[in-house]
Amino acid sequence: MEFIKVKNYDEMSEKACEILVDRMSKLQQPVIGLATGSTPEGLYKLLIDKYKKGELDFSNTVTFNLDEYVGLDDDDPNSYHYFMNDKLFNHINIPAENIHVPSGVAENIQQECLDYESAMKVAGQIDVQLLGIGQNGHIGFNEPGTAFDSRTHLVDLDESTIQTNARFFDSIEDVPTKAVSMGIGTILESKEVLMVISGASKQEAVKHLLSGEITEDVPASALHKHPNVTVIVDEAAWGDN
Ligand code: PGA
Repeated sequence: MEFIKVKNYDEMSEKACEILVDRMSKLQQPVIGLATGSTPEGLYKLLIDKYKKGELDFSNTVTFNLDEYVGLDDDDPNSYHYFMNDKLFNHINIPAENIHVPSGVAENIQQECLDYESAMKVAGQIDVQLLGIGQNGHIGFNEPGTAFDSRTHLVDLDESTIQTNARFFDSIEDVPTKAVSMGIGTILESKEVLMVISGASKQEAVKHLLSGEITEDVPASALHKHPNVTVIVDEAAWGDN
């Protein structure tokens, strides 16, 4: 696991953009795993800028998002599919059929999970998986205690995650309690992982990652088992580590 320490959120976004664009430029059909949340928003803005300047082409890019809330459809402004359309997909030339976000409203969620795994297999492995990290160390919606060999699955969100994400909803009662998420095993199969971490609220999670301890209590610690992980951390998240 390689750590890159940067000054602030903007530098984190720029560094992540530089790495992602470099990898995309080397691949005929990049398969990119994408994440939602506040952390990657700056990166998505930079990718849009590059596309608008004619420096980046998404026509051959295939994407797979990490997760989606159960019960929210694509048009719901709080769904992750909506977030991705709004923050990235609507502004670039990615073909709609190349975009994959798990459905949170599938009639049969178990089948949806299996289908999502199959779609990833058909596309080939994910070349670069972008990840944020939860304050509790979650990756995707894999909460503490999730098995490291888990595949795309239905998850019960941690109370702490529900509280953290309530800021996006009118009230905490509106926050879904379940989600579909790629599993930790799924994430570990990507060829490369690019993690972005910003802000003082992530100091505990960073401390744990730096300790090198591998435990299911901190889902992101599974990444120590992966051979190609870059973690970009800003000073606020780094703290006194
Ligand atoms: P954040 O979410 O980027 O909004 O902090 C990260 C996560 O929960 O994985």
